[in-house]
Amino acid sequence: MAAAQQLSHVYPLGAHLDERGRLQVGGCDALELAREFGTPAYVVDEDDLRARARAFVSAFAAHTDDFEVHFASKAFACTAVGRVLAEEGLGCDVAGGGELTLALRAGFAPDAIELHGNAKTEDELRLALDAGVGTIVVDNLHELTRLTRLLEERGTTQRIQLRIAPGVSPDTHPSISTGGPNTKFGLNLEDARQALEQAANSPWVDLEGLHFHIGSQIMSLAPFREALERVTAALGTDFPVWNLGGGLGVAYGPGQPPPSVEDYAAAKVAMVRELCGPGKQIVDEPGRALTANTTVTLYTVQSVKQNVATWVGVDGGMSDNLRPMLYGAHYEVEVADRFGGATPCTVAGKHCESGDVLVRDALLADPRPGDVLVTPATGAYGFSLANTYNGQPRPPVVFVSRGDARLVVRRERCEDLFSRDV
Ligand SMILES: Cc1ncc(COP(=O)(O)O)c(C=O)c1O
Repeated sequence: MAAAQQLSHVYPLGAHLDERGRLQVGGCDALELAREFGTPAYVVDEDDLRARARAFVSAFAAHTDDFEVHFASKAFACTAVGRVLAEEGLGCDVAGGGELTLALRAGFAPDAIELHGNAKTEDELRLALDAGVGTIVVDNLHELTRLTRLLEERGTTQRIQLRIAPGVSPDTHPSISTGGPNTKFGLNLEDARQALEQAANSPWVDLEGLHFHIGSQIMSLAPFREALERVTAALGTDFPVWNLGGGLGVAYGPGQPPPSVEDYAAAKVAMVRELCGPGKQIVDEPGRALTANTTVTLYTVQSVKQNVATWVGVDGGMSDNLRPMLYGAHYEVEVADRFGGATPCTVAGKHCESGDVLVRDALLADPRPGDVLVTPATGAYGFSLANTYNGQPRPPVVFVSRGDARLVVRRERCEDLFSRDV
C-alpha cells in the first residue's frame, strides 16, 4: 500500500492523500465530506486559518510592538471565519454596512473595526457611528463633508484616516489594481492636501493617519515601497498611524511563489521606519493571504462529453467561483480520490454561459460522472462573490479540524430564492 502523500502549498496545511490516494483535509476524508454535506461545498481548514492569522501577527511582532492586523473581511465575508479571526486577536476591515453588521456579529470589538468604501451612504456612516467603529477611512472630499456634518449633529468626534491614491499600479489584474492614477478609490494627492486642511480645521474628526491599498494578489514587495515613497514625498510623515492596506498575493498553482508573510511584514515595517520615522503605528489589512489557501471546493461531476475538448460538467461554477470569469484566474483541479491524472479536460460549470469554465487546462484521471473534484485555494473572493445565477442555491461552508467536520453556513435552499418576495 502506498504511503500518505503531502500536497503542495496550494492546499491547506496538512492536507494530504491517504494510503488509498484519497484527499484528506483537516483530518477529514473529502469523499465523506461530499457525501455528508453535498456538493458543491466550501471546506475550510480551521487550524490552517488560525495558523495564518498567527503567522501575520508574529511576523509583525518580530519587528514592532505597535501594529494591528485587520482582516479584510471582503475576502471571506462569513461570520464563522470572522469569529475565528476575532478570537485570534485581529481587527476587521469592512467595506460597507453589510460587512460591518457581519463583523459585529462575528465578535470583533467595534473599536477594532475600520469602515472603508468609495461611496459610503449616509446610512452606512450612521451605522458605523452608532456602532462606535474605531476608524472611518475617508475616501473622498464629499464623504469628509458629510461625515463632519453627521458628527456635528451628534456632537461626537470620530477617528479617521484618509485613503490616498498614490498613483502606483502593481503588476496584477486591472480589476484588482486600486492605487493607480485613474482609480475610483481614494483621494488624489491634490485632493488629499485639501482633505488634510479640512480635517485639521474640524473639531469633529481626529485624523490619526493615512491609508493606501494599491491592489490585490501582489507578488512583489517593491510597489508597496513605491507607494509609500510617493505618499510621504507629497504629504509628509507627520501622522501617527500608517495603514498600508493588504494585497499580499498567494499561490494558486506551481509558478512563482508569493513573498513570505515574514518578508512582507519585515519590508512594511522597515519602509515605514525608514520613510516615516520611528514611533509610528502600522496597520495591515490582509484578506486573500489569510483565507485563500485555507479552503478547497468540492464538486461532483455530472457529465463528461467530447468535441474539440473533453468537457467535464460539475454541479457548481460561476455561482460559487467567479474569479476565473472575472480575472482569468487559474485553479488546480483533481479527482479527489485519483490525483495526478493525464486526461486533458475543460472543467465547466452548470450555468447558461459558455464562459462558465472553472479550469481550462485540467489534467484529470479519467473523470466520470459521480467523481468528486476538488479545486484548492478557493478561500478568498469565492464565498464572498457567490451568487444565485440560474437560481443556483449557494454552497455551504464546512469547517474541518482534526478529523471533525461542522457546518457553519448551511446550503442555500430553493425557498431562500424567494424569501425576500413581498
Ligand atoms: C481597502 C482594502 N484593504 C484590504 C484589502 C485586501 O486585499 P487582499 O485580499 O489582497 O489582501 C482590500 C481588497 O480589495 C481592500 O480594498
